[in-house]
Amino acid sequence: MTKTDIVILAAGKGTRMRSQLPKVLHKLAGKPMLTHVLDAANAIADAHKIVVTGHGADIVRQTYPESAFSMVKQSEQLGTGHAVKCALGELRDQAKVIILYGDVPLITPTTISKMLAAVDNDHISLLTIELPNPSGYGRIIRDNQGQIEAIVEQKDANHEQLDIHEVNTGVMALTAELLHAWLPKIGNQNAQGEYYLTDLIAIARGAGYNINGIQPTSASEVEGINSRQQLAALERTYQLQLAEDLMASGTSLADPARFDQRGALSAGSDNFIDINCLFEGTVTIGSNVSIGPNCQITDSHIGDGVEIKANTVIEQSTIGDGAVLGPFARIRPGTQLGSNTKVGNFVETKKAIVGNGSKINHLSYVGDAELGENVNVGAGTITCNYDGVNKHKTEIGDNSFVGSNSTLIAPVSIGQDGFVAAGSTISSEVPVGHLAVGRAKQRNIPGWKRPTKNN
Ligand code: UD1
Ligand code: CA
Repeated sequence: MTKTDIVILAAGKGTRMRSQLPKVLHKLAGKPMLTHVLDAANAIADAHKIVVTGHGADIVRQTYPESAFSMVKQSEQLGTGHAVKCALGELRDQAKVIILYGDVPLITPTTISKMLAAVDNDHISLLTIELPNPSGYGRIIRDNQGQIEAIVEQKDANHEQLDIHEVNTGVMALTAELLHAWLPKIGNQNAQGEYYLTDLIAIARGAGYNINGIQPTSASEVEGINSRQQLAALERTYQLQLAEDLMASGTSLADPARFDQRGALSAGSDNFIDINCLFEGTVTIGSNVSIGPNCQITDSHIGDGVEIKANTVIEQSTIGDGAVLGPFARIRPGTQLGSNTKVGNFVETKKAIVGNGSKINHLSYVGDAELGENVNVGAGTITCNYDGVNKHKTEIGDNSFVGSNSTLIAPVSIGQDGFVAAGSTISSEVPVGHLAVGRAKQRNIPGWKRPTKNN
């Protein structure tokens, strides 16, 4: 038996979120909770995924226009057993089935695999955990041999059962065949008038099957979210795990509690990240990189030995080895900085290709531009890339020098070794090696008298 069907329950309303958005679409680490579960499910080879939706089914569908999962609608939420029953038609013959939850986002592929490995024709598996405070959860009832024999919901439990600290996480795995056989047998004669999936355990025992109790690697894997407070708490737990993984791989963090990763971050070794940095999307960092406080880096690659100073924002860009950026640099999409480049304070770049060793140190806008090597762009230089309708390109050759406060009106090019006098407005080509002076000539007027005050 190698086929795996993964049923993800996501029909609940999530009343306590007080939101128009279905609960499972609320984000953890920048990604909807349901996406976390789907990603874990995707790590299981050949798994067929079935998402059971109810409240906000259309929004869930629209959120995943191309995702390879089936969706079944549970129009009325009559309980977890009823929810899984809605998915029966999607299960494949001879598949092993695992039940996951769209609001339990941190389940890992390792635990899913362990659960599936413990299923065979006469074993079902159940994910349980010991909690210091088991309140609210279904309690695990074991016989005097220690075998799991039933789950009793909190609201149906007697005093003795309420003292049990081993609880049901809700995650269960068994064959499709047994689900087909047993789900129709579940009734709703209980305190909540719901069809409890948990009743399967007693049914399984009654039919002579054994239940393998499996435990997760960490409690966060089975933490379910019902409120924004719980979501924020799990976010911190998860961020701390990501911070620990990063440190374990050779990057130092000034404070692991002030680090946020929303996406995939990979880093070499001997990097240092100061407080309050945020990494989004796919970010790769080389080695010996130093990142100052309050930086935001999105979908970018940072080369070796780069120094990024405080309050720098980098999006969809590539930063060459040994570059120095910031403080307060804004590197917008399509920027490619060569090695040993410098982009200083209050400089904005966009679609700018900057050759090795070039410098834009102060107060500039460089957009839709291609700079050669060892170019020096003086303070306050602006590429006027937009004529009000179209964007145009500025090209600056190797070893050129652009004096401070120049405006370069694109399309325009400055040849290699070109020199632009400070304060110039450049609207036509500067040939190789020329000096361009594009400003009004200074006149000095001798004997000038200051105006005097009228009475
Ligand atoms: C359930 C378990 C309980 C376990 C707990 C772990 C049952 C009867 N009880 O209780 O033993 O300790 O989870 O968190 O299974 N859902 C649907 N359709 C429904 C009902 C629920 O999709 O008709 C989904 C909900 O969206 C939610 C999940 O199933 O994601 C759990 O449902 P909920 O009613 O919250 O179960 P609990 O009472 O927490
Ligand atoms: Ca309930």
